Amino acid sequence: MANQEDNLFKNVIAHAKEYGFIFPSSEIYDGLSAVYDYGQNGAELKNNIKEYWWKFMTMLHENIVGIDAAIFMHPTTWKASGHVDAFNDPLIDNKDSKKRYRADTLIEDGIARLEEKIEKEVEKAAKRFGESFDRQMFVTTNPRVLEYQKKVDAFNERLKLAMEKSDLDELRQLIMDLEIADPVSGSRNWTDVRQFNLMFSTEMGSLAEDANKIYLRPETAQGIFVNFLNVQKTGRMKIPFGIAQIGKAFRNEIIARQFIFRMREFEQMEMQFFVKPGEEMQWYEFWKEKRMKWHKALGLGDANYRFHDHLNLAHYANAACDIQFNFPMGFKELEGIHSRTDFDLKNHEKYSGKKMQYFDPETNQSYIPYVVETSIGLDRMFLAVLASAYKEEKVTRDGEDGGDRVVLKIPAPLAPNKVAVLPLVKKDGLPEKAQMIMTNLKFDLRCYYEDKDTIGRRYRRQDAIGTPFCITIDHQTLQDDTVTVRDRDTLQQERIPVNALKARLTEACSINSILRKI
Ligand code: GAP
Repeated sequence: MANQEDNLFKNVIAHAKEYGFIFPSSEIYDGLSAVYDYGQNGAELKNNIKEYWWKFMTMLHENIVGIDAAIFMHPTTWKASGHVDAFNDPLIDNKDSKKRYRADTLIEDGIARLEEKIEKEVEKAAKRFGESFDRQMFVTTNPRVLEYQKKVDAFNERLKLAMEKSDLDELRQLIMDLEIADPVSGSRNWTDVRQFNLMFSTEMGSLAEDANKIYLRPETAQGIFVNFLNVQKTGRMKIPFGIAQIGKAFRNEIIARQFIFRMREFEQMEMQFFVKPGEEMQWYEFWKEKRMKWHKALGLGDANYRFHDHLNLAHYANAACDIQFNFPMGFKELEGIHSRTDFDLKNHEKYSGKKMQYFDPETNQSYIPYVVETSIGLDRMFLAVLASAYKEEKVTRDGEDGGDRVVLKIPAPLAPNKVAVLPLVKKDGLPEKAQMIMTNLKFDLRCYYEDKDTIGRRYRRQDAIGTPFCITIDHQTLQDDTVTVRDRDTLQQERIPVNALKARLTEACSINSILRKI
């Protein structure tokens, strides 16, 4: 990570703690690695993101319904889903630094460094040739670039095969061939590669016998698959239809760094869309487009998103891509869109002995549907919103007390508080008038009342938690029933009648205002 981005990330993390968004879990005991608690402002922001997703899925799509399945499931679920046998990360340790890494991630980084060499050649040539430079021509004819590209393709192919076959010796050999050194110690003294299952397990009941071993779900999707027929029959759903769910998932992540990007306990928002076999690719494209629109409608910046196709497909998929977001540490996966075939339902039928088939009343035929899944990490979405909202700025506007400010430019409908109600002074009946205004607004908008300190200081505190509007009640309010409304982003102040406040602010702060853009 470049230094500037590194600093930005550190500042975002410190700000999130200082202003009640995210705390390390059980901090008084020095925290628990890769586990976090959401504070008073974080919980509100998180709930608003959930609402944006849930409403989009279940209210804007007549053929999608939501469920809330249990975290604990019958242990055979995870045999059938393939997680007991295949939900592994290949690990390697460096003998000198004692640091542990995911072998496939080290290899991907090594290949990315080769690709950077191609980019450097391109940049050099572009400088040399100036305006007449033809990138396409250069990368398809320059011998050095072609040599690098050949190596990149060969390494990618070997990685793909090694991952498919779980060939741990070949993964180690790739690390050797790519001459990968430990990023910490610079040493190439590596152990063998081992498989490590990512599921947490515990015991159900009082006896710690193997038969009672159960898992904390590593994805919410299986709760949807096992309920597929319950929902289809009781909801009289016709294919194509979807089931949505928001809930906790748990993974014993090896490399648990990068704040809430990779956690051991996290939340997913997943939707399984059940389709006729053979139609899955068309729905896969449909959901890719829909999900990208959902993201872009928030206004965090279109250039911050890109698709990334998976080269190494998971054991259940016949096509898969990520929507990547430009996080402070670069473009990384925010959401996965997967064509999961009939893998899960077929296996649940096999392991449970119960039919998992849909009866099509139009053709009088039964079949196991194919599934297209959209799966987004709620915490990653939170990080995307928080990091892109965080701005350090100079205040230049008259009427504000100048200097620097840290402001969270969170989209208004997602902001923890929508309105701060601020009597200019704590006397002359202004607090009482402010309370009356607040009583009128608080059923529709989350309000925050504050009467301590100068108005400038109060504005700064509201900026720091991302409150989009500050209402100031002054002496003029008592005469003409108007207040000033200050806009967090433009710093514009406008005088408006008290009786116009509700209509004006609820529209600007409503989730529906974003949903209508999709
Ligand atoms: N049901 C499919 C599934 O779970 P995944 O790509 O493993 O697919 C989906 O996970 C999403 O869940 C990811 O795109 C990411 O946003 C989120 N996610 C996965 N592991 C995570 C972790 N350890 N911490 C936070 N979010 C995670």
